[in-house]
Amino acid sequence: MKHSSMAVMKQIVPVGPLSALFLIGILMAFSSFPVMTPAQPPEQDQVLRKIVFGSCIQQDLPTPIFFTMAGEFPDLILFLGDNIYADTEDMTEMRAKYDRLNANADFRKLQSRFPIMATWDDHDFGVNDGGADYPQRVSSEQEFLRFWQVPADSSVRKRPGVYDAKIFGPEGKRVQIILLDTRYFRSPLRRGERRIGGPYVPDNDPAKTMLGETQWRWLEQELKKPAELRLIGTSIQFLPEARGQEGWGNLPLEHQRLIRLIAETKAAGVIFLSGDRHWAELSVLSQKVPYPLYDLTSSSFNQIHPRGTPTENCFRADERTYHRENYGVVRIDWTGAKPSVTLDVKDIEAGIRIEKQILIRDLQPN
Ligand SMILES: [Fe+2]
Repeated sequence: MKHSSMAVMKQIVPVGPLSALFLIGILMAFSSFPVMTPAQPPEQDQVLRKIVFGSCIQQDLPTPIFFTMAGEFPDLILFLGDNIYADTEDMTEMRAKYDRLNANADFRKLQSRFPIMATWDDHDFGVNDGGADYPQRVSSEQEFLRFWQVPADSSVRKRPGVYDAKIFGPEGKRVQIILLDTRYFRSPLRRGERRIGGPYVPDNDPAKTMLGETQWRWLEQELKKPAELRLIGTSIQFLPEARGQEGWGNLPLEHQRLIRLIAETKAAGVIFLSGDRHWAELSVLSQKVPYPLYDLTSSSFNQIHPRGTPTENCFRADERTYHRENYGVVRIDWTGAKPSVTLDVKDIEAGIRIEKQILIRDLQPN
């Protein structure tokens, strides 16, 4: 509350011991919702050394992990979707749920101190496992742009969907952040007999799309831009095999198209980051690709997986999976002759649960 408001309050409320307490109460109530402006994005030439990411925030539950994440002092934070559980076609209800997250002091502190880039997944898009046939996708995008305070001049506002990309750092240390939209354009998935992961089965219909043609063309142009390291944020997992759950594996032709696009554009340094599953794991595809492709999954920020055992995944690079609150860390060491990336999954006490170091020179196309 501003000083002018306090002066007005002094005029209308007689100030005795009780009314002073009353005043303090009101001031405290209001001061818990100060207007906070988000931290400025990194400068274009800023060298990124630490990027923190994760997904899946149940907006009605506390988020103590945000306090842990602030202790990482990241250069950038990526929210990879299911940032609220809206699950509605009513935009008043969706906004109220965004407001719940906005009232979360831990979230607001994180947002005011560290730059954030975000994409969405099904629940903040508006419907569980939803795609292009969700009838409120245009309005829902407006709520997304409003909540994340996407600047008025952002190219994201000039096209349907919330995909975005930026490159930070000078030549030799460039990090490209690509955030895909796997919801706005996605064709309906094929259902089969329900398995542990869910009801979906791979569908080789060439007419079906994950990204839509416009986003595919945009992505090709982005991958042709020079960068030493590229972090591709995809809300759903890119590598794990289709076991009924949502993932790129349900549209195998689209999955192969992205691998082919990386090879054809000779895009170096690609690492996938994903969320959605309410557990964390690291997957790798090391055959028939220009170089090993990793997919580090981190989820959830504040929900615990009820089953506690992961769905089968033949691409798992590390036996360890983690099913409690977690976040991902991408640490880049640009020093020395062999710059490296370390992929971590950390728990609520910043303890390392999964870790893998990769040399950037091992992520080069032939
Ligand atoms: Fe999801």
